[in-house]
Amino acid sequence: GQRKPIVAGNWKMNGSLELIKEIAAVSAQIEEQQCEVLVFPPAVLLSEAISAGLKCGTQTVSEFDAGAYTGEIQASLVKSLGANYTLVGHSERRSIYGESNEDVANKFAQAQQSGLTPILCIGETQEQRTDGKTEEVVKQQLESVIEKLGIASLVNSVIAYEPVWAIGTGLTATPEQAQATHKYIRDLLRSYDEQVADALRILYGGSVNESNSELLFAQADIDGGLIGGASLKPESFSAICESAK
Ligand code: G3H
Repeated sequence: GQRKPIVAGNWKMNGSLELIKEIAAVSAQIEEQQCEVLVFPPAVLLSEAISAGLKCGTQTVSEFDAGAYTGEIQASLVKSLGANYTLVGHSERRSIYGESNEDVANKFAQAQQSGLTPILCIGETQEQRTDGKTEEVVKQQLESVIEKLGIASLVNSVIAYEPVWAIGTGLTATPEQAQATHKYIRDLLRSYDEQVADALRILYGGSVNESNSELLFAQADIDGGLIGGASLKPESFSAICESAK
């Protein structure tokens, strides 16, 4: 298609030096022309992962430039290590660490100012889906970035749609459910700018594994995946990458 797929592994607070070697071997087998393989290890492993040849990013970044922010991850320093991406607004950051749409927009801006490509994570909870609010929720999550930074800011970004109820639960969205929301997202963006909407990669995340990835990735508006649990298993991750071609 017109958009090169991305398969991104989000290790969350897991992984090891050993896993870096194993996943680097997997990544080396995947044709770069066919699929972009990215890994989001814990920040303390970033240098090792980059040295092993992995294309990497962090799982979050600070919204601030530099200074007295103990424990935070500085976007410009991530870039200077040789990483080119960061996740922003992952549902665990939103729910466990209280990040608001505004915080997420600030992190998105800081990432871009530092030369990183943000992967903006959005998605509804089970309760919001049951209440019929899925579209309203993802619209608000997207528009908080667009209103602050403009539609052009999405050119150098990636969206990851992750229904919260599908994350780590084994309850994958069906390909039809996922495609419906991906199409909603692309159509919404198209109302701002057609070219931006057509070029933007929208990844699906939430209990993707080697048995369901092929059908998900075959959907018209799904351009790859953000993989949690299965990205920690080299054989599974390899099969998921293969299925994205
Ligand atoms: O960032 C990854 C997602 O949260 C999905 O995690 O594949 O373990 O459901 P999962």
